Amino acid sequence: MEMLDLGHKVHDETRQGEAFAPFENDVNQYTKKFYIESYGCAMNFSDSEIVASILNDEGFGATRNSDEADLILLNTCSIREKAEQTVRKRLTEFRKMKKAKPGMLVGVLGCMAERLKAKFLEEEKLVDLVVGPDAYRSLPGLIEEAESGQKGVNVLLSREETYADISPVRLDSNGVTAFVSITRGCNNMCSFCVVPFTRGRERSRDANSIVAEAQDLFDKGYKEVTLLGQNVDSYYWMDEQKDEIVTFAKLMEKVALISPDLRVRFSTSHPKDITDEVLHTMAKYENICKYIHLPIQSGNTRILQLMNRTYTREWYLTKVDRIKEIMPDCGISSDIIAGFCSETEEEHQDTLSAMEYSKYDYSYMFYYSERPGTLAERRYKDDVPLEVKKRRLAEIVEMQNKLSYESYQKDIGKTYKVLIEGESKKSDKEWKGRNSQNKMVVFPKGTFSYKKGDYVWVNVKDNTQGTLLGEIIEL
Ligand code: 5AD
Ligand code: SF4
Repeated sequence: MEMLDLGHKVHDETRQGEAFAPFENDVNQYTKKFYIESYGCAMNFSDSEIVASILNDEGFGATRNSDEADLILLNTCSIREKAEQTVRKRLTEFRKMKKAKPGMLVGVLGCMAERLKAKFLEEEKLVDLVVGPDAYRSLPGLIEEAESGQKGVNVLLSREETYADISPVRLDSNGVTAFVSITRGCNNMCSFCVVPFTRGRERSRDANSIVAEAQDLFDKGYKEVTLLGQNVDSYYWMDEQKDEIVTFAKLMEKVALISPDLRVRFSTSHPKDITDEVLHTMAKYENICKYIHLPIQSGNTRILQLMNRTYTREWYLTKVDRIKEIMPDCGISSDIIAGFCSETEEEHQDTLSAMEYSKYDYSYMFYYSERPGTLAERRYKDDVPLEVKKRRLAEIVEMQNKLSYESYQKDIGKTYKVLIEGESKKSDKEWKGRNSQNKMVVFPKGTFSYKKGDYVWVNVKDNTQGTLLGEIIEL
């Protein structure tokens, strides 16, 4: 994971470091300053924007400079052991800062706060606040307690909290794309996963507040929203006033109807829940992006059963067929875990062949990391030796590299509609943006007068690892 040179750091396998516009809040209008770093998934990133909103109301403005902060917050991730180690390391750096500036408060938010609870305060003496993902509304009170020298802890999980009424303050926004959370928590209980314990029960946010947030973003000039949830396909909202049941497909349609110029993306889909209704809705609207993140985790049915994924290899591969049947140009990506408990070489081979069948454009690949309290930790032995896990992971990565190369090569000669997100990292003479399939496209600005947030047609000429290179064409 790359450390970004930004005040609000995003440590996420799904996002790349890039230069962002200033924070939405004008820091000078606030009496106190907070600095926040986010680790882990897009949901944490989105939560940090809710926290920023709550803190703005309390007189704290966001700063990119940790040295001038009165309050330092780490929004943490517990998904793998390595993620927790990264946070611990960062805390030792803040320990040094706090020695020089004793009045500064340090808070730990998110999944690690939830998992370790008050234990965190014993282990990390410099920490003043420990606040779980459902308790951010209590931050003002907890900060007050911490300012008076006490420790502030709230790790209560909720069955209702969705922060529906809170307007996120966009941090590190490029002004073009934004996340909108639609569900919180997860009910799936995949046996390897700590998320159901750190983020609690699944609940859906009021559909009207989601549509209103997307509309507001569009009115402010944003051109793309990504609807976020651990399992978006299980979104369900009963609108009693309108006597209407809103499924995920319906919700997506409502957001797509805001404007044909507003792109809609979503993440993550669970293979057991993604319906034909969702696929047909995607196909129906040009502005719903033709891209699905559909984590397989393993390509072997016995392992999938142990993982409690509730689908078989065949079910998964049939879903892939169905996606391609309804949307032949749809991009697909995946999450894959190597070396889960008792996985044999043959079963590992099944993962490789399922990847080949699914022809993923890209994948997020990990070796299994046992997490305390999960079903797998309690029931199964973590018995695949580390070197075997690493070797299998290397084979999975190699397979993915081959598939990505083939997928990107196939795009050469094609023309795509690209939403300009900003200048390319390498040159201010180039734009970068993504096509509907979520592939990054880089192309010279040329003599055209396009700007950030515009749609352009780009003809693909070449590719590098993970990027398409093209030229603007005027249709
Ligand atoms: N070990 C390794 N990878 C994991 N993931 C979740 N839990 C673990 C774990 N204990 C991966 C899954 C999931 C992604 C977000 O992280 O692939 O889809
Ligand atoms: Fe974890 Fe499975 Fe829920 Fe994803 S669907 S958050 S992997 S329990």
